[in-house]
Amino acid sequence: MAKTAAVILAAGKGTRMYSEKPKVLHSVAGKPLVQHVLDEARTAGVHQLVLVIGHGGEEVKNTLGEELTYAWQKEQLGTGHAVMQAMGSLEPDVERVVVLSGDVPLLRGETIQQFLEHYAKSNAKAAVLTAYVDKPDGYGRIIRDSEEHVVKIVEHGDASPKELAIKEINSGTYCFDKKLLAKCLTELKPDNVQGEYYLTDVIHAIRGQGMPVIAVPVEDNREIMGINNRIQLAEAEAVFRDRVNKKLMLAGVTIVDPNTTYIDAQVEVGQDTVIYPFTILRGKTQIGKDCMVGPNVDITDTTVGSGVTIRQAVVEKAEIGNNCNIGPFSYLRPGTVLRDNVKVGDFVEIKKSLIGEGSKVPHHTYIGDAILGKSVNVGAGTITCNYDGKNKHQTVIEDGSFIGSNSNLVAPVKIGTNAYVAAGSTVIADVPEGSLAVARGRQKVIADWEKRKRTK
Ligand code: UD1
Ligand code: CA
Repeated sequence: MAKTAAVILAAGKGTRMYSEKPKVLHSVAGKPLVQHVLDEARTAGVHQLVLVIGHGGEEVKNTLGEELTYAWQKEQLGTGHAVMQAMGSLEPDVERVVVLSGDVPLLRGETIQQFLEHYAKSNAKAAVLTAYVDKPDGYGRIIRDSEEHVVKIVEHGDASPKELAIKEINSGTYCFDKKLLAKCLTELKPDNVQGEYYLTDVIHAIRGQGMPVIAVPVEDNREIMGINNRIQLAEAEAVFRDRVNKKLMLAGVTIVDPNTTYIDAQVEVGQDTVIYPFTILRGKTQIGKDCMVGPNVDITDTTVGSGVTIRQAVVEKAEIGNNCNIGPFSYLRPGTVLRDNVKVGDFVEIKKSLIGEGSKVPHHTYIGDAILGKSVNVGAGTITCNYDGKNKHQTVIEDGSFIGSNSNLVAPVKIGTNAYVAAGSTVIADVPEGSLAVARGRQKVIADWEKRKRTK
């Protein structure tokens, strides 16, 4: 492929979002609008990415990092003016420029690639991606001559009644021969209703020089949808959700109710896993094979092995081994690592702790800053008292030990291998291997208590 650069326009204000945040940083499917555009352009095989920034430009830069080229458009004088700002940043051997909008997140890399192939196969010097829509209001209209060749694009505000009736619209995605684009941009004039430098006028200029221009209609109109307000943001979210769910289902994942299942684009799920309603899988989460996830599960940036059951749980930045059983009503916080065959039950919170293979934390427990060995049993109501009001301390519970119900383990403290803690103990000193710690008031029995009260 001839060396191709993508120029992505993202300098506009996005007034209709009513937001402090630049429009292109609003998220759909777990990532900013403009990040979708950048990722899809990369998928299409583009060699260089140039992002035109203006409104909220510093914030955009800080969010996206240094892996791409930025061009500043200090004043928003139109789409043509925006592309002009990027031309100086193009690598010298770039031959083609594809122009994309930072607020069109649904356009797929595959579609961009096909569009570029179309352009390459033709002898055209410019191509525009178009769509046929029932309500063309607000879009630029594609004007073709009697032989169906593209002549120009007319903006809604500049269109005659006859032109307004045209249903083929400009998606705002273009491909240009770089040299011709550079030349035509310098000749743009803002003589239109909006007083802007229109990129669309470059199409007319290239055609005016006797060079062919093509229009390539998109197959799925949903792809070219631009995001201007929060209603459209939610609509785009629904399209993404549909795409992600369908892709997973076609790859062997059962999703019981796709309408109530929310999975981010980068999430991976293994074959024969079943996802029940009201499940949210976010960020870089990976789920193995043969799992049962949901109902009511919210997982973020977590790796889950195979054969795991998770019901009614919130899980964040954790690592879960194979064949674990979690929930209902568990809360696994960042830094939780569960090895294989671990059981975490109801009303259990775990933070920054390792739970060894085959260990069980079945009910009403808080485990924080702890290391549990293999086959440990933690009785109901156990608390690791990890915080002294100032610092956090570690609890170590070694292999095979048994923590009786309603125990407090005051950290730093270590329970040795195969040791026992009696129910209701508050343990403040290490318990050696194989021993039993009883740390609670001795039971006193007062005989005839009820009778003595009655006769008083
Ligand atoms: C543009 C097209 C229109 C097309 C529509 C598709 C022009 C003149 N018109 O219209 O034919 O149907 O997109 O959505 O190009 N931007 C800048 N700097 C500017 C102006 C815009 O970076 O000075 C960016 C915006 O942030 C946005 C994109 O360019 O990402 C499109 O701008 P917008 O104002 O939405 O263009 P439209 O008027 O919708
Ligand atoms: Ca627009």
